[in-house]
Amino acid sequence: MAWTKHMLRVALAGVAGVALLSGCRGTPSAEPPVHLNPNMDTQDKYKPQRISTFFEDGRAMRPPVPGTVGRDLLDTQILGKKDDRFLREDDAFWRGQDENGTQVDKIPVAVDLKLLKRGQQRYDIYCAPCHDAAGYGQGTVAMRGKLNVPSYHQDYIRGYKDGYIFDVISNGSPSQIMKGYKHQIPVADRWAIVAYLRTLQRSQNATAADVPPEQQGKL
Ligand code: HEC
Repeated sequence: MAWTKHMLRVALAGVAGVALLSGCRGTPSAEPPVHLNPNMDTQDKYKPQRISTFFEDGRAMRPPVPGTVGRDLLDTQILGKKDDRFLREDDAFWRGQDENGTQVDKIPVAVDLKLLKRGQQRYDIYCAPCHDAAGYGQGTVAMRGKLNVPSYHQDYIRGYKDGYIFDVISNGSPSQIMKGYKHQIPVADRWAIVAYLRTLQRSQNATAADVPPEQQGKL
């Protein structure tokens, strides 16, 4: 096919057009690029580390309002570890402590049959393998692993505060030979287990006075 003058002109116009459109590529310019549909892409805003002429200290990044509680800050910087104790209103329930940090004497929830049954079920799952079903410390793991697990039926353990037992379940024994179960056992279930542990203790250390009066005649 032979090139006519007309075809040549159209071709040249095309080349020129492409060259014109791509002309600004790689050429620095102070002007913003042509933006056909701005769509709120460009708007006034502060970005991190930028200057602000509005605030007196000239910083666009504002420090938190005094009194702000930063969860991660408390968890990792102040405590040095993750903890689920913060921003929960009821210290007795969530931490087993009163507002002064003293362990509570008594379980801070109502103890009824439903709680005890839940506690028994959870205890049989999480504690009985070592402490055995009755709490003598003769569980399968203790026996096979030759692990020295204390019996709950000793005066010093009977004398523990409920808040202390909650703490052992949550964070482990002071020596850490027994590890904590706070990641496996939710708070409400820990109290159910404390209640059941108390039940076990009473069951192995009961006197005639623990029998309800109307039943005592049957003894
Ligand atoms: C893997 C075995 C194991 C499991 C499971 C286990 N414990 Fe223990 N527990 C131990 C050992 C071992 C000790 C003694 C720890 C020590 O001497 O520091 C102990 C000690 C305790 C004590 C006494 C702590 C003290 O300071 O005197 C309590 C209370 C207790 N466990 C409750 C529980 C409860 C409740 C559960 C279930 C949530 C549980 N344990 C699960 C092994 C276990």
